[in-house]
Amino acid sequence: MSNVGIISLGHYLPKKVLTNHDLEKMVDTSDEWITIRTGIKERRIAAADEDTSHMAIKAAREAIKNADMDAQKIELIIVATASADSNFPAVACMVQRAIGATQAAAFDVNAACSGFLCALTTAKQYVQTGLYKNALVVAAEKFSKLVDWNDRSTCVLFGDGAGACLLGHVRSDRGILSEFMHAQGAYGHLLEVIAEERNPLDQTCQAIKPPYVTMNGQALFKVAVNSMFEAASVAIKKAKLKLSDIECVVPHQANDRIISGVAKKLKLPKEKFYINIEKYGNMSAASILVALYEAVENKRIRKGDHVLLVTFGAGLVAAANVVRW
Ligand code: ACO
Repeated sequence: MSNVGIISLGHYLPKKVLTNHDLEKMVDTSDEWITIRTGIKERRIAAADEDTSHMAIKAAREAIKNADMDAQKIELIIVATASADSNFPAVACMVQRAIGATQAAAFDVNAACSGFLCALTTAKQYVQTGLYKNALVVAAEKFSKLVDWNDRSTCVLFGDGAGACLLGHVRSDRGILSEFMHAQGAYGHLLEVIAEERNPLDQTCQAIKPPYVTMNGQALFKVAVNSMFEAASVAIKKAKLKLSDIECVVPHQANDRIISGVAKKLKLPKEKFYINIEKYGNMSAASILVALYEAVENKRIRKGDHVLLVTFGAGLVAAANVVRW
């Protein structure tokens, strides 16, 4: 009996680095405030002509190369994004075309920052049931186009980037051991991308601001810690493991203080958490995949390790998976 697991990883980060000091010149903020409250020092910003699909394609190409996979053999592509190039076509279809995966089914998943883990669990089901032999899961975000750059309470938090992984059958002692997904729609108003009211017959509507992120940071903070704790606890139990069996936690990188809160509540040493928020800020769905890529590259995750992936995001949606690497 084989399991379904991650066979290879890819990632892509835009070249442009926007530091906290750069932000000091744009809004009334300081490096000190951002560092103490969030742990973020800098983030990447995609170029004007670089959209979500371009980053998704670059990450996907690396994952395919690392698996030495023929793109024609890919059977399913799921892209997790809350910042697609447009309402349609799906970014997954743009990836399919660019990489030449002509045999693949393709669609997007939108669960904001929890998108990657929801896409991972979705793809796992298709491969496990045998409907598809493999799946390419990509998470890509260009939040810089959704952020109001005059709003200091949100613009300092987010960054752009992409990650990708190929799923396939692996040995029975490896792979994705458990999954958890849960939504609390009642908290949806805490984090939204809103568009101002539009009257389709109003010829001045072009002057209206594009949709932008609004957030109740403090309320979100509390729900985040509790929902990540709950997601982690259920996923570990479903994997028939104990907390002490987990060698590395790769959490969603929204705020270093949220990660500290989760570590404390789980009674796990923070050293077990892989954190790269200082370099990239919150890349929404892409955060966990980029962190996972780096944790494997930096040998923080080794073959046989139990890895907990855990997230929360707008919706509110929480999710977790336990993987034996
Ligand atoms: N620079 C300087 N001052 C600021 C800034 C800034 N960038 N932003 C807000 N402030 C000010 C506020 O105006 C307020 O001033 P006041 O006391 O004069 O009114 C003061 O700082 C404190 O503001 P709070 O909102 O209370 O600050 P808090 O300690 O809660 O930190 C933060 C704010 C970092 C946003 C925190 O609440 C948080 O991280 N929440 C969770 C956010 C999150 O996780 N978002 C994404 C999750 S989902 C996803 O990933 C898509």
